[in-house]
Amino acid sequence: MEKLPIIITERLLLREIEEGDAFDMFEFARLSTIGPNAGWRPHASLSETREVIKLFRNKKKYGQLGVFAIVWKENNKMIGTIELHSYVRNHKAELGYTVSPKYWGRGIAVEASKYIISWGFEKLNMKRIECTAFPENFQSRRVCEKLGFTYEGLRKKVYLNYDGSVRDLESFAITDDEYWDRIYKNTWW
Ligand SMILES: CC(C)(COP(=O)(O)OP(=O)(O)OC[C@H]1O[C@@H](n2cnc3c(N)ncnc32)[C@H](O)[C@@H]1OP(=O)(O)O)[C@@H](O)C(=O)NCCC(=O)NCCS
Repeated sequence: MEKLPIIITERLLLREIEEGDAFDMFEFARLSTIGPNAGWRPHASLSETREVIKLFRNKKKYGQLGVFAIVWKENNKMIGTIELHSYVRNHKAELGYTVSPKYWGRGIAVEASKYIISWGFEKLNMKRIECTAFPENFQSRRVCEKLGFTYEGLRKKVYLNYDGSVRDLESFAITDDEYWDRIYKNTWW
């Protein structure tokens, strides 16, 4: 599988995550405000983050697209992750993202997502991109709203969490028709 593209946005550089990102990633992956909101246990050590990055890089061996690092251009720091996971070729994927809390509230998840979504529809021929969030994850739900995703409802007891709890998920999506309509109407930023 090919290497992920390098995508340059207004303030960010999006590129394939690397083992050298472990130190920056551990800084936020260890926090209880990140993993548990996204359905994973906070990392206990730098070596755990290294292992997770290896797993991320291995995803491509199993037909998945892999994970982008979100790099803040100004200081070249890796401050988050973004990916299109649960990928089905020529069909669909699910958008997932994390941003280091030091950088919250600056529209970084939206800025990265709008480019990743364009990549999904324009280069990968996707028909649908989904995004899900725990009901209490207002920050992520807000990102989906700002991206203009359609709210598709609450999927009850759909997610088996890392701690064994069974969780509801709020579900959002955008289709290729909706995306291209916005491109033609010039309302995709
Ligand atoms: C979800 C997440 C990626 C959003 O990133 P972000 O770049 O801060 O997103 P935005 O700047 O667009 O902010 C989204 C909303 O978060 C809220 N918010 C902003 N700053 C915040 C802060 N410091 N503390 C709490 N909430 C904040 C606001 O409601 C904001 O919406 P607004 O722009 O309409 O005011 C980030 O909060 C995160 O990493 N959360 C933990 C991991 C996670 O939940 N991932 C998604 C799993 S579904």
